[in-house]
Amino acid sequence: MERELALEIVRVTELAALASAPWMGLGDKNSADGAATEAMRSMFETVCMQGTVVIGEGEMDEAPMLYIGERVGMGHGPELDVAVDPLEGTELVAKGLNNAMSVVAIANKGSLLNAPDMYMEKLAVGASLAGKLSLDDPIEVTIHKASQYLSKSYNDMTVMILDRERHQEMIDTVRGLGVRIKFLSAGDVAGAIAPSFAETGIDMYIGSGGAPEGVLAAAALKCLGGEIQGRLMPEYEEQEQRCLDMGLSDPRKLLTMEDMIGQGDVIFAATGVTQGEFLGGVRYLPDQRAETFSMVMRAQTKTIRFIHSIHNLTGKPYFQQ
Ligand code: FBP
Repeated sequence: MERELALEIVRVTELAALASAPWMGLGDKNSADGAATEAMRSMFETVCMQGTVVIGEGEMDEAPMLYIGERVGMGHGPELDVAVDPLEGTELVAKGLNNAMSVVAIANKGSLLNAPDMYMEKLAVGASLAGKLSLDDPIEVTIHKASQYLSKSYNDMTVMILDRERHQEMIDTVRGLGVRIKFLSAGDVAGAIAPSFAETGIDMYIGSGGAPEGVLAAAALKCLGGEIQGRLMPEYEEQEQRCLDMGLSDPRKLLTMEDMIGQGDVIFAATGVTQGEFLGGVRYLPDQRAETFSMVMRAQTKTIRFIHSIHNLTGKPYFQQ
């Protein structure tokens, strides 16, 4: 992949973030998501690539734009797989809560797992624990191993987890060991990335979230030198079949990063919509301007760029507060 694509892709997430930000706190997650999706779709038209949406807003019959299989890009240039979440954390924006982002990952055609819309059990870590833990281990064993590798006592460790009833047993076990929990109300791409940034104070991300978000997180973690392991959690017959149709003979097999994003290069970009652990949210400035905070990175070089942009919104009422 051409490295210039990285800067093209961050324009896409910036625009989606700017489009959804005016919906912050208005209690309307569908409008926030719709605005992000439309903006992202329109900016993709300026990117020189022949992209196919592999992770998107849903199946063709249920999503008007950025649906799975949709072709995006200018129609010439490299053939790429595209994974998008125009607004990761729709509810967060609707409620004015932290950690909503706009996210895109791209990779060579055929690299990204077309992860079905179901839950995935996840274990994500930063570089210091990459390659050292296994999702197959019980959580007590994982925490013990992590404490040894990090030379930290349990009391000094913090894990991040989505605040959901389905995690209660895991929460009790973790707290029973004396390990701290920082809850996420939604948005687990950010949760999986958080352990890669020491300043977040988070050692591991654990628990189940969306499978498509797992693939997006895998793209980010490949660039960051971290790791995510996943396991799909089909809940009924149709979901089991979906996994089998994807060629997963054992739907509950442990999925490695290679299973999720292949072996080659990948580019990941994210722009904060609301304030997050490692990215600021959209902020409005005087004179009809707004600033955004993005990260864009490429697995091949592992360069991580943080981009602080100031946008002139004059004449673009669509993006205004
Ligand atoms: P949306 O952006 O579609 O609202 O999803 C947010 C999210 O929190 C994901 O980050 C996460 O993977 C998933 O939902 C968790 O699902 P659930 O809310 O059902 O636990």
